[in-house]
Amino acid sequence: MKLPKLKILDEKNKLLHKVSKDVTFPVSKEDRILALDTIKYLEMSQDESIAEKYNLRAGMGMAFVQLGHLKRIFVIASEREDGTFEEYVIINPKIISRSEELIYVGEGEGCLSVNRPVEGIVPRHARVTVEYYDYEGNKKTIRVREDLAVAFQHEIDHLDGILFVDKIDPKNPYKNKDKMREI
Ligand code: NI
Repeated sequence: MKLPKLKILDEKNKLLHKVSKDVTFPVSKEDRILALDTIKYLEMSQDESIAEKYNLRAGMGMAFVQLGHLKRIFVIASEREDGTFEEYVIINPKIISRSEELIYVGEGEGCLSVNRPVEGIVPRHARVTVEYYDYEGNKKTIRVREDLAVAFQHEIDHLDGILFVDKIDPKNPYKNKDKMREI
């Protein structure tokens, strides 16, 4: 398998701090190809031997803005127990409900645009319901939980120009840890 060539922007790039724009339908062929390439890239990055060969960091999600396109699209490739992937292409998403319960990733969140170690945790809702559109503009709803809910919230933040590091108080990077559940 050939690794798709993607140019992933670093957090220093101003685009990553801008709000992405709604996508119009039907989604262009170029954007569909980019979504598929990005999913393939993410899946390959989660394979240890491929990651080593190409010197990749493992990632499960990517927003189009990270690739230089200010469009409200993100993709996620989440590995199942059996090694296959759940693949999501999420367009113009909106969180319509959130659990009260908060969680955080114990080992810290990661982002393919943040190329440095980061101390601290990010509070996320344990479950969220998200309304979004498919390529043709059909409205869909999905309810996600646990690590997938974290990924959705992380990627939706990207569409609003927010990086996970922006949500960590550098003076108190483990703030409110006791009030949340670690995953
Ligand atoms: Ni990210």
